Amino acid sequence: MQAPINKKKIWILNIIFLIACAAILIFLFRAPKETTAALPHDDIHAEFFLIKSKKAAEKNCLDCHGPSGDAPLKEGHPPKFRCLFCHKRS
Ligand code: HEC
Ligand code: HEC
Repeated sequence: MQAPINKKKIWILNIIFLIACAAILIFLFRAPKETTAALPHDDIHAEFFLIKSKKAAEKNCLDCHGPSGDAPLKEGHPPKFRCLFCHKRS
């Protein structure tokens, strides 16, 4: 014998489920736009778009963006490992 189903309870659970889904979608759509500067498309950086592996490409960044390079990072720059996770190539 099947247990009797409490239809009203199931109806309420469905409504709660739908509200939760709507809340998650609204939360995701309201997320701020990505604002971190992408890897610039210029002559200086062109070669790094061609290196397939992010890790290999990143080995070169600090040649110029390191403390003694031409374009050192500002003080207070966020943690610096894995440049291309934040500065996307796109
Ligand atoms: C040969 C030197 C050099 C190398 C190597 C280099 N950069 Fe740069 N980068 C510069 C210079 C100079 C600028 C500023 C002028 C410009 O935008 O091109 C700059 C600008 C940038 C900017 C833009 C900052 C802004 O405010 O818009 C980002 C992001 C950046 N570099 C990331 C990287 C990453 C990531 C790498 C490694 C894959 C890298 N760079 C390698 C010289 C270099
Ligand atoms: C955790 C994310 C993150 C990582 C990893 C990261 N950056 Fe940044 N970077 C930022 C943010 C955020 C800014 C400032 C806001 C912006 O770019 O619009 C910034 C700014 C810069 C700038 C502009 C000048 C400055 O200092 O503000 C350059 C150039 C740069 N990053 C290069 C690099 C390089 C090279 C690496 C790897 C060695 C790196 N970033 C790793 C997030 C990151």
